[in-house]
Amino acid sequence: MKIRTLAGSVALVALTGMATWADPAEDKLVINGEIEMITHTEKAPDYIEGLSEQYSGWHFRDADTRDMERDDFDNPGMLAVDAAKEVWNTADGTEGKSCASCHGEPESLRGVRAVMPKFNEAKGEMYTLEMYINDCRTERMGAEAWGWNDADMVNMTALISYVSRGIPMNVAIDGPAAPYWEKGKEMYYTRYGQLELSCANCHEDNYGNYIRADHLSQGQINGFPTYRLKNARLNSIHSRFKGCIRDTRAETFKEGSPEFIALEVYVASRGNGLSVEGPSVRN
Ligand code: HEC
Ligand code: HEC
Repeated sequence: MKIRTLAGSVALVALTGMATWADPAEDKLVINGEIEMITHTEKAPDYIEGLSEQYSGWHFRDADTRDMERDDFDNPGMLAVDAAKEVWNTADGTEGKSCASCHGEPESLRGVRAVMPKFNEAKGEMYTLEMYINDCRTERMGAEAWGWNDADMVNMTALISYVSRGIPMNVAIDGPAAPYWEKGKEMYYTRYGQLELSCANCHEDNYGNYIRADHLSQGQINGFPTYRLKNARLNSIHSRFKGCIRDTRAETFKEGSPEFIALEVYVASRGNGLSVEGPSVRN
């Protein structure tokens, strides 16, 4: 055990270089001059042992990137929201229905993003937002399921996040969610890959430090989907998990896999209390 710990910290020192540290930016996020976002809490929930306070990833980005999120005209993720509004109103599938046929305005789903993932009683399993959307498509519209990272899917999750902006994340971790949460927590502290690094090694022990040019955040998911300047598109939660695991030079899991669903439950709960911020802007 000692040796593994050592291997991990050596890898981390190599990655973080001189371990340059910088405070999360002291800044406040108010979108369009009206939606006040909770991007920092003085106290993390008690069940998150390793965090005393919570920060949205927004605090770790540079001033220009932070500014892009203050106004919807400057947020490139809003193009996806607009595209999804069109899809929302367009009939698809054998039933000739659109999302609007049953749900009316997208605002009718306000609050939904804040509680995802949640246990789907009817199906008897944990469901992410993507899974709810696909059930409506396949079972209620007679349309084809969207792929996890299809533009239509990621755009729709952006629209459903957008109508919840500002609402604090409030994912359930008890009752039927408990076993998923436990599994996700175990994954969070498991060291992956040749570098033998866990999520916690980077996002709990080292947030504030720099990995190369990247200011390490707490790896929160309240801002998803995120528009990344690096790949100039919106990114799903699971594709971000995949990228982070791949960076440890490990075999990774697939989008929608039971592992990533459990991990999402746990990581979402680490952000309970932070505002839904998607679509956010990151580098
Ligand atoms: C034929 C009617 C119908 C259509 C069309 C439909 N839905 Fe639904 N949707 C429902 C019903 C019914 C539920 C379950 C509501 C509940 O359990 O509270 C639901 C649930 C959902 C949920 C989960 C809400 C929650 O609170 O858990 C989401 C998200 C959703 N739909 C998105 C969509 C999207 C996006 C589309 C279009 C791609 C769509 N739906 C099309 C009827 C429909
Ligand atoms: C080697 C260090 C490292 C490890 C290990 C790692 N990440 Fe990351 N992660 C990063 C870096 C660097 C970024 C980009 C800067 C940032 O937002 O922290 C990032 C970003 C993220 C983000 C985006 C945050 C935002 O606000 O946009 C999430 C979510 C995330 N990681 C989750 C995870 C999870 C879950 C794990 C474990 C499976 C993990 N990471 C493991 C380095 C790591």
